[in-house]
Amino acid sequence: MVPLADRHLELEVRLDADPEVLRYLWGRARSRPEVVASHAERMALGAKVDGLGYWMAFASDGSGPGSPPPDDSFVGLMMLPPAHGPDQPDDPSVGELGYRLVRRSWRQGLASEASRALLRHAFGTVGLSRVIAQTMAVNAGSRGVMEAVGLRYVRTYYPAWDDPLPGSQLGEVEYEMTREMWQHRAGGDVRLR
Ligand SMILES: CC(C)(COP(=O)(O)OP(=O)(O)OC[C@H]1O[C@@H](n2cnc3c(N)ncnc32)[C@H](O)[C@@H]1OP(=O)(O)O)[C@@H](O)C(=O)NCCC(=O)NCCS
Repeated sequence: MVPLADRHLELEVRLDADPEVLRYLWGRARSRPEVVASHAERMALGAKVDGLGYWMAFASDGSGPGSPPPDDSFVGLMMLPPAHGPDQPDDPSVGELGYRLVRRSWRQGLASEASRALLRHAFGTVGLSRVIAQTMAVNAGSRGVMEAVGLRYVRTYYPAWDDPLPGSQLGEVEYEMTREMWQHRAGGDVRLR
């Protein structure tokens, strides 16, 4: 995983050009100007709390660090910014886990693998008190990742949607991992070490 930088903009544009990837986020593909605006927001949010932000994930060829990974090994965008927005706590010790993978990378355990690495980073390096994750209740893939990495269900809530997506009547779900949960799991789960 490589920290998000301006040179990654074209990969973000390509990621958001697939409507299936954004099915539970926007319900459609996003235009280049929209992605340019999101990129700027990510870079700003990533500068707020040391150690939190956004990473571009690439499939490793085993050659280790050195030259930048080729674009065709791009797996997706991994997110751990400070919690933000109307339905989240305004607390810099809480991070929001998120993931958006190119379709060819789905169902290979990659979002879970990268999320476990970000949880280790969140608690082991940054020292967060809590990591939350939110998604539409009907987004089975996203909930699958949350459950696979050991987050627990917290609540279902019903934000006011300007333009509701199919399934939004079932609301959004929030999951969490607290520092105590992580310490407990890290003690007994080799996958988190
Ligand atoms: C959601 C997403 C990140 C999942 O990534 P992934 O790498 O395919 O997930 P994993 O392979 O790590 O799967 C984790 C678990 O979820 C399950 N899962 C993944 N996709 C699933 C799906 N579409 N339906 C049901 N279960 C699914 C897996 O079987 C696995 O369960 P297991 O641990 O019991 O085997 C990916 O589908 C994606 O990028 N979707 C579009 C963007 C998006 O919706 N992001 C979340 C927005 S909040």
